Order: sequence, then C-alpha cells, then structure tokens
Amino acid sequence: MAGRGPASGERRGGEPTVNERNKVTTEQYAREQALEDKVVASFETAEDPRLKQLTQALTRHLHAFLREVRLTEAEWDEAIRFLTAAGHITDGKRQEFILLSDVLGASMQTIAINNEAYANATEATVLGPFFVEGSPEIPLGGDMSFGAAGQPCWVEGTVVGTDGKPVPGARMEVWEADEDGFYDVQYDDDRTAARGHLFSDENGTYRFWAITPTPYPIPHDGPVGELLAAVGRSPMRASHLHFDVRAEGKRTLITHIFVRGDELLDRDSVFGVKDSLIHDFVEHPADTPTPDGRDLGDRSWSSVRFDIVLAPADTTGAGE
Ligand code: BEZ
Ligand code: FE
Repeated sequence: MAGRGPASGERRGGEPTVNERNKVTTEQYAREQALEDKVVASFETAEDPRLKQLTQALTRHLHAFLREVRLTEAEWDEAIRFLTAAGHITDGKRQEFILLSDVLGASMQTIAINNEAYANATEATVLGPFFVEGSPEIPLGGDMSFGAAGQPCWVEGTVVGTDGKPVPGARMEVWEADEDGFYDVQYDDDRTAARGHLFSDENGTYRFWAITPTPYPIPHDGPVGELLAAVGRSPMRASHLHFDVRAEGKRTLITHIFVRGDELLDRDSVFGVKDSLIHDFVEHPADTPTPDGRDLGDRSWSSVRFDIVLAPADTTGAGE
C-alpha cells in the first residue's frame, strides 16, 4: 500500500528513522509493506469483485494487526493451537466458532451493519448457536416448555408492520434455556423442550406459555471459555427468550427479550443487550388466576408483553 503518511519512516538527515506507528526502521517497514502489497496483489485475479474486495481487505487488516502488535512466532503458534482446538470441539451440536464470533462482538457488529434501525421496527440481536430447525408447532396459547424446568411465563403481544397494520400468519420461532441454564440440545437424551413455533392470528396477535428466562453461561469448557478466563471475563448471558419472526414482505427479525432488573444486563458476554429489548416480566403469586384459566396448582408464574414491529423486506435505511 503506497505510503501510510509520514509515519512510514522517511530518512531525515541521512539517519535511518523509525516508523512511528510500528517502531521499526525504514528498511524493515518497507520489507513488511512489500510483502503485504504482494499478498494483496495476489487476489487481483479474482473474477468475483466482492471476493476480491473481501480477500484484499482481509489481507490488509490482518497484516496491519500482525505489524502493529509485532506478533511473535510463539503467539502465532498459540493462535493456530486455539483455532485447531475450536475446530476439534465443534460438531453437530457444538459450534465453537459462533461462540468466538459472539464473544469478539463480531456477531453483533454484523447484525448492526445488516439491520440498520428502520422507523420503529423492533431491534435485532444475536442468534446464538442453539437455534434448531424443525421445532414442534404449538397452538396459540400452547406451552413451548414441553416440561423444561422453570417458572411458567405467559408471553403475549402483537405483530405489526412499521405502518401499524397487523401482520397475520407471522411465523414465530421461540427458544430458551431451562432454569438449570441448559438448552435441550445440550442434554444427551435427544429431548425437545423449551422451543417451538407458532403463528400470529388474523389480528396479528399471539400468546403462549414459556418459562421465565434465567441467566446462564455460554458453553465455556472449550477454547473460547479458556480465552474468557484468561482475560477475566464472565461467560454469563443476561436472561432472555429468543424469537425468530418471519412474514411475507417483511424483514426477518431475529431477536430476544431480556428481563428488566437482571443484574447481567450491562455485562452480557456476547454484547447482545439493547435497551429497547428489555421488558417487564411481572411476577404473579401462586393462586393468581392465569390469562387462559390454566391451573398451575401451587406454582407462581410470570407474564410479559412483547409487541413486535417488522420492517418491510429489503430495507436497510432509517425509514420515515
Ligand atoms: C444464546 O443466546 O443462545 C447464545 C448466544 C451466544 C452464544 C451462546 C449462546
Ligand atoms: Fe440464548
């Protein structure tokens, strides 16, 4: 790359100067720059212009990182060991690379880039690794817990467009961890619990029973957990319930609702919390009548309202 400004290490008065950013001599700077430029040029042949842009920008940023931190060979070996371990622990049920992307904030940054705020549309947040295709359908008012441990929670709301019109037939996938902090897929017994899908009715309203979300750690028995421990970061996620909402002509919304008052809201391990997604979960003592007359015996329950606003499909801008 031609010249990074005066910091490129020009000779002053015939003496070798050091590059001020990377603290290397002019000659060393030039050697490193020549290699970077050569690698960038090697991608010139890419026929796909987007692939060319991605590979060249990746090269520039990667080399800038290596040069800025003056990466040692031992550190590079450690990075390779880390990525190899992430590969080895990854299988059909465990996705260490998603966790890595999440704790680096790369997932949330990609979501920010691709889901620009549009009018009053509900904000998006991280998908996480526990979404599973083929969840059971539940009727409106049905129970998606399927026996998962936790306090019953009544969830209701509407699905509308940014024009305020109800969205009937929106497909809503919902999933969450049980009160022990595990998703069904983290158990070895092939259970399906605390997940399901339903459809909004002709007025765009919906309701179902879930369990009150509780905090849980992201899987931290692998290399990502090692990294968090090494830097003194907690693996805990703020309590949440996941939603994936799809409707014809609308932008797909992947989001959560969070529990107001949860002490983890300002230190979620994957940076997923947005103020607009924090909701009041109202506590109801045992014996309080439930909205649908369900008899919960001696159990207390909670309730939350989540009104969802979907942006039009193919929108990226701010809207009116
Ligand atoms: C989740 O919310 O399910 C999740 C998100 C990121 C990493 C791990 C789990
Ligand atoms: Fe989650």
